[in-house]
Amino acid sequence: MTDSPLAELSRCQPGLRLLTEPGELEHYGRDWTRRWTPDPLAIALPASVEELQEVVRWCHRQRISIVPSGGRTGLSGGAVAANRELVVSLERMNRVLHFNAVDRTLTVQPGITLHAVHEAAREHGLIYPVDFAARGSCSIGGNIATNAGGIRVIRYGNTREWIAGLKVVTGQGDLLELNRGLIKNSSGYDFRHLLVGSEGTLGIVAEATLKLAAPPLPSQVMLLALPDMDALMQVFSLFRERLQLQAFEFFTDHALKHVLQHGGQRAIDGDYPYYVVTEFDAVDEAAQDAALAAFEQALEQGWVSDGVIAQSDAQAAALWHLREGITESLASRRPYKNDVSVRISAVPEFLREMQALLTREYPQVEVVWFGHIGDGNLHINVLRPEALGEDAFIAQCEHVTKLLAATLQRHGGSISAEHGIGLVKRAYLESTRSAAEILMMRGVKQVFDPHGILNPGKMFGSN
Ligand code: MLT
Ligand code: ZN
Repeated sequence: MTDSPLAELSRCQPGLRLLTEPGELEHYGRDWTRRWTPDPLAIALPASVEELQEVVRWCHRQRISIVPSGGRTGLSGGAVAANRELVVSLERMNRVLHFNAVDRTLTVQPGITLHAVHEAAREHGLIYPVDFAARGSCSIGGNIATNAGGIRVIRYGNTREWIAGLKVVTGQGDLLELNRGLIKNSSGYDFRHLLVGSEGTLGIVAEATLKLAAPPLPSQVMLLALPDMDALMQVFSLFRERLQLQAFEFFTDHALKHVLQHGGQRAIDGDYPYYVVTEFDAVDEAAQDAALAAFEQALEQGWVSDGVIAQSDAQAAALWHLREGITESLASRRPYKNDVSVRISAVPEFLREMQALLTREYPQVEVVWFGHIGDGNLHINVLRPEALGEDAFIAQCEHVTKLLAATLQRHGGSISAEHGIGLVKRAYLESTRSAAEILMMRGVKQVFDPHGILNPGKMFGSN
């Protein structure tokens, strides 16, 4: 036995599973950003809340930094361990603990995948409505840490709306039981909501009680081709007025090209600059006729050039894949990602300014736009030209992000809609939060994590 910190940890917690092989360190030390070189101290895989608390208490005593780790599908570097941190992976804590039929809640461990949560809810005839493409690999703990949004926010809101209760382990190893599944609880500060979206900087989710909902009405999926950008919000207004929307997503011809190259099936002939995938309640013939009428009106107005309605579940899935397959189709190019939001009313003006900015600043660069336009969230994925080195490319993207942040500030928007600040956007936090607010955020961090061991360097720069 040596005196190294890891030997000491093993001595204190002989039952704790620890991984130290180079391949394992690399695997657990990075997320989907793939920009930083992983360099964790080791990987700890607690199997219970008690083991998790013990690890955190030990790190607190030893002043060892922790990177909490779920499915590592994050896109902002929030789960990157590049500075000898101990990665605390929650993947062994991945069970459903309890279903409560009266409260309509599901209590789960943090390492369970979103997909497994969906399945568990479905077994009881209910749904957990937050949904997005990484469902098969992302974990609920990570979803909570970033207040994940996704493709159904216009109907169901973000992860925050679906958290009835949380157990979290603070930076000192204390276990807090937040809100306990109550619907009404006016008894002081609601730390549950402080923890949602805190990116592992205040506490580690040890257990979550999720609200469930009744399944939505039968729906239809439609793909629309649009002639220009202005039409996006015109069609959205029309459809929102006429139909009960479940989702309204857009992407450009660039995004479509990449998905088609990666096995997507073309659903509309011809080339159009913008596309929308929308899903809406279609419970009976009258609702289906209303959808057709809305489509025809959009066609007459010149806001839509072509469209297709899915005739089967398989076709609906194929249409959805054109939107949901974008991230995966670009992954090998390791895009620089912006993930911004403005109020829905500010979208048209913001889009116009953004388009001008991106066209001016990225003359030789392929920029792929898509996103959850129905809730004001736009994804901008910038692809590095082969001729440009990685460092020069990142420098260029950071310069443009500064300009983008200033535009967002003018429109009262956010530099991170749903991916989190992590490492990627910490230099731009001031565009969305005032100096006074950031100071208070740091103060809160100090209370929950006095030694600054929880995910240091994420969100604020240096904690
Ligand atoms: C998505 O909505 O597909 C992702 O959040 C966006 C991205 O990969 O940039
Ligand atoms: Zn998204």
